[in-house]
Amino acid sequence: MSINFEFTPIVSQQTDTVVVTIDKDKNFYPAAKSLDAESDGWLSHCLEKRNNFKATAGQALSVPMQKGADQSRTVLFSLGDVSELTLTSAEELGGKLYKSLKGLGVACASVLLDADDALECGTAMLASHMAYGALLASYEYNEYKSQKDEEGDNVALSSIEFVLDDEAAAQAEFEILDALSEGVYLARDLINQPPNDLHPVSYAQIIKDEMKGLKVDIEVIDEKKMQKLGMGAILNVGKGSAEDRQPRMVIMRYYGAGKPTKKQLENEENRPLCFVGKGVTFDTGGISLKPGAEMDLMKMDMGGSAVVVGLMKALAKRKAKVNVVAAVGLAENMPSDKAYRPADVITSYAGKTIEILNTDAEGRLVLADTLTYVQEKDKPKMIIDLATLTGAMMVALGFEYSGVFVNDDELWGKIESSSAKTGEKLWRMPLDEAYRKEVESDIADLKNLGNLGRYGGACSAAGFLEHFIDEGQSWAHIDIAGTAWAKSSKTLVPKGGTGFGVRALHEMVRDFYEK
Ligand code: BES
Ligand code: MN
Ligand code: ZN
Repeated sequence: MSINFEFTPIVSQQTDTVVVTIDKDKNFYPAAKSLDAESDGWLSHCLEKRNNFKATAGQALSVPMQKGADQSRTVLFSLGDVSELTLTSAEELGGKLYKSLKGLGVACASVLLDADDALECGTAMLASHMAYGALLASYEYNEYKSQKDEEGDNVALSSIEFVLDDEAAAQAEFEILDALSEGVYLARDLINQPPNDLHPVSYAQIIKDEMKGLKVDIEVIDEKKMQKLGMGAILNVGKGSAEDRQPRMVIMRYYGAGKPTKKQLENEENRPLCFVGKGVTFDTGGISLKPGAEMDLMKMDMGGSAVVVGLMKALAKRKAKVNVVAAVGLAENMPSDKAYRPADVITSYAGKTIEILNTDAEGRLVLADTLTYVQEKDKPKMIIDLATLTGAMMVALGFEYSGVFVNDDELWGKIESSSAKTGEKLWRMPLDEAYRKEVESDIADLKNLGNLGRYGGACSAAGFLEHFIDEGQSWAHIDIAGTAWAKSSKTLVPKGGTGFGVRALHEMVRDFYEK
């Protein structure tokens, strides 16, 4: 069920619920005050009687209105401590408000925002980010439910309007956030989609369909072309799969700031940003088969690619003035008589030979060929890859933070700031020659498993990838193994595929690269 968000200077006629704001000490903001006066103190009376209502940020108290009132219900909604309000806490407020309204069975609500003086971010930013938070919180994945009507006896929450003076500014900001949430939704949908329907071949088609009507050029490299090009790494990962599920590499190119000429490309400043994603549509481990418990979760092993596709959609959708290349390596890791084996030596697109010691360390192989290809073709200004790469990353940081391995302090500065602004938590991890050495093989150039096995496994995986990064190429690798999937819901992130990364990277593009 999709909700319609409006920003308006006055309350519309058909609304059934008015939301007015209070602060953490239960002080009424002006709209609440005047409604209280109009109803002869009914609101403050109800608030007083409900002494277990604490008015912490995002708490809502529903008050039925008496005969003669314009609306049937007023909701007293606490903004909490407004002196500490940030954009991310505004989003949390929006998410909580959405949940309260839905729980109350509200169909159409008007949110009166008038805490102007108290707000550092401004009412327009509060309104737009609350709407965005409500959008993020209202995500549901119902594609495979035969009964689509989720609302049961309640009417669906169909519209929320924010009533404020500066409605045009709120609308303008929301248009960007609305496109962004479409990107987040797409990433979540892709991760949630079951692997019998989402496999390399269908996934490539879905990407084409999703980018239709947007100015994104799409290149698809199929297994025959891969063979011709010598992309032995990604090909070997997908070799065990059925013939109609062989690997694909999809490169999306978006020139929102104008396609640079050959001459302009000589100047590094004019080169595109590049995002690369691991798209293993199902990771059984291959011949080095994973244990059965929770193997179903390995449908999310394309989480990195989903983030890259979602980010691209958001940027193209809102016509961002920036040039971006997004590339995903798609493969399914299956055991079969055709599958690659431990002890095999394969040749990557870069020409480096790799001894396979564990077929379950497949993500780095998929990424290696994809990283090589975009560096050769697009000469990016910087590359950020995202991948559900190692269980070791989860051992290190759990489900809260993703680890970032980055060879450029300036790039890390941008990533860190965008992470802080969006609440998608990122932590810097080490790249080191020692980790690169760990993946040198006795009989080939490299091996796909570090000497220490799982110890420092996220670091040796990053060290492996670094062997495929050109000298001087600015690059970051984000291991989202612990954050791509949520086992329990948070306000803005329902359980299942999270789309973690879309928001932070979008912020980075917007803050540092857009013209
Ligand atoms: N896709 C997994 C990593 C993973 C595990 C992501 C759990 C999310 C949740 C990856 O391909 C993998 O299997 N990695 C191995 C590497 C090992 C064989 C060196 C791992 O982490 O166990
Ligand atoms: Mn694996
Ligand atoms: Zn994997």
